[in-house]
Amino acid sequence: MALLDTEFGLNESSIVREWSGQVQPALVASFVFLLCLEACLWVRNLRLKKRLPGPFAWPVVGNAMQLGQMPHITFSNLAKKYGNVYQIRLGCNNIVVLNGETAIREALIQHSKEFAGRPDFVSFQLVSGGNSLTFTNYSKQWRTHRKLAQSSLRAFSSANSQTKNAFEQHVAAEATELTEVCLKLSTESEFFNPSHELTVAAANVICALCFGKRYGHDDIEFRTLLGRVDKFGETVGAGSLVDVMPWLQKFPNPVRSVYQNFKNINKEFFCFVQDKVVEHRRTFDPNVTRDMSDAIIGVIDKANHDTGLTEAHTEGTVGDLIGAGLDTVSTCLHWMLLLLAKYPEVQTRLQEQIDKVVGRDRLPNMEDKEGLAYLDAFIYETMRYTSFVPLTIPHSTTSDVTIEGLHIPKDTVVFINQWSVNHDTLKWKDPHIFNPSRFLDENGALDKDLTNSVMIFSAGKRRCIGDQIAKVETVVPLQSLSHSQ
Ligand code: HEM
Repeated sequence: MALLDTEFGLNESSIVREWSGQVQPALVASFVFLLCLEACLWVRNLRLKKRLPGPFAWPVVGNAMQLGQMPHITFSNLAKKYGNVYQIRLGCNNIVVLNGETAIREALIQHSKEFAGRPDFVSFQLVSGGNSLTFTNYSKQWRTHRKLAQSSLRAFSSANSQTKNAFEQHVAAEATELTEVCLKLSTESEFFNPSHELTVAAANVICALCFGKRYGHDDIEFRTLLGRVDKFGETVGAGSLVDVMPWLQKFPNPVRSVYQNFKNINKEFFCFVQDKVVEHRRTFDPNVTRDMSDAIIGVIDKANHDTGLTEAHTEGTVGDLIGAGLDTVSTCLHWMLLLLAKYPEVQTRLQEQIDKVVGRDRLPNMEDKEGLAYLDAFIYETMRYTSFVPLTIPHSTTSDVTIEGLHIPKDTVVFINQWSVNHDTLKWKDPHIFNPSRFLDENGALDKDLTNSVMIFSAGKRRCIGDQIAKVETVVPLQSLSHSQ
């Protein structure tokens, strides 16, 4: 060392002297830097806390045990304490919950692209063979997929007056058969459960659109398939628990068994769809579009576009349309029957209006709807009051975004509470009371501003693509049921 020092003309004291002039300011600078960093982190954490308020989350399970049987009600109650945008924790996932008309519309409409994602949940991969449009994340390919599905659906239901009429007549025929089956069942015993008949009617409408084939109410194979699909609702909850707590799959427990069931139901349902699509593909003639499966085969399988969509997406699309159009429509019809039974005065008023506008000599049609404001009001009030799809399918953020001044990072799972929009006391007077007349103005006409405020089909880029056909599927059977009385 001494040699080195003399060789290079340095000695210990000179180094210390030289460095001492730099070390001290460097130390001070580092100290100040660390202090600033700490302060920034502290402020950031403070802002984080402000950004995402929410209930205390337990280790491992987070807030899973607090959700209860009706999470939408729990979410609305939490919103009273934490505001309309807050965070909960499920397993290892931070989840932002959006409540109330203002926050939800700000997110889904003003920031539609940022909220158009879907989380990469394991259960989402099980639906429609993993090629679903409903459960796929936002991307250029997804946008094309959705457009193709939307245009095929429109081509068979509302593209022009001819398709509109054909679709409507088809729904009317199904509604007539439903009415007849219900009349028969009601003569056989004092009461009956219409649940299965409603599911068959809804399934037949969408199967006829997709496969050009409907099934009898007594068809054993179809009954069995639909019976299983009915269980979808029971098992989907387990799917979501496994999504946020994947370790539940690792050891025997009740959630794992239900999840296994969910897998089997999806597989069985998708096999049914696949068989039909494969048969359509085998007999496909580009000059004759027999039904929606042919239309989708034409635009996805056979088209020369560079979208990355494959034959598997054709099957995924058909699977999605059938799955989405089944449970939702039959649940809506079910609620309407229950509410008509519970409120006979509403039933009488509806009946009187239909008798006046349509009479009893012919079947009603969609054009009659113009004169049937109370019928529309009844349907909107059923959707608002029951909010039978209380939460949308989970969304995820596609980039960082700010809602009501609160920052939400990219790839955050988002739950959207439609029930809270339909029961928002700022918007609705006595939201817990069933009152179709709330949608009518002083002249008895439908208040369109108010009907547009009902949220059951969601909004923005993920809004339901079957909303128009769902409306026909609910109005026409209701008219037919009244007609038969
Ligand atoms: C009363 C009946 C219906 C209701 C209440 C309903 C409601 C919904 C809701 C809440 C969503 C989720 C939107 C979101 O995640 O933000 C959805 C998505 C969807 N619905 Fe419907 N739906 C109904 C009928 C139908 C029908 C009849 C079809 C097709 C035949 C259909 C096709 C779809 C599809 C494909 C999606 C996925 C959209 C996407 O992820 O981009 N729905 N629906």
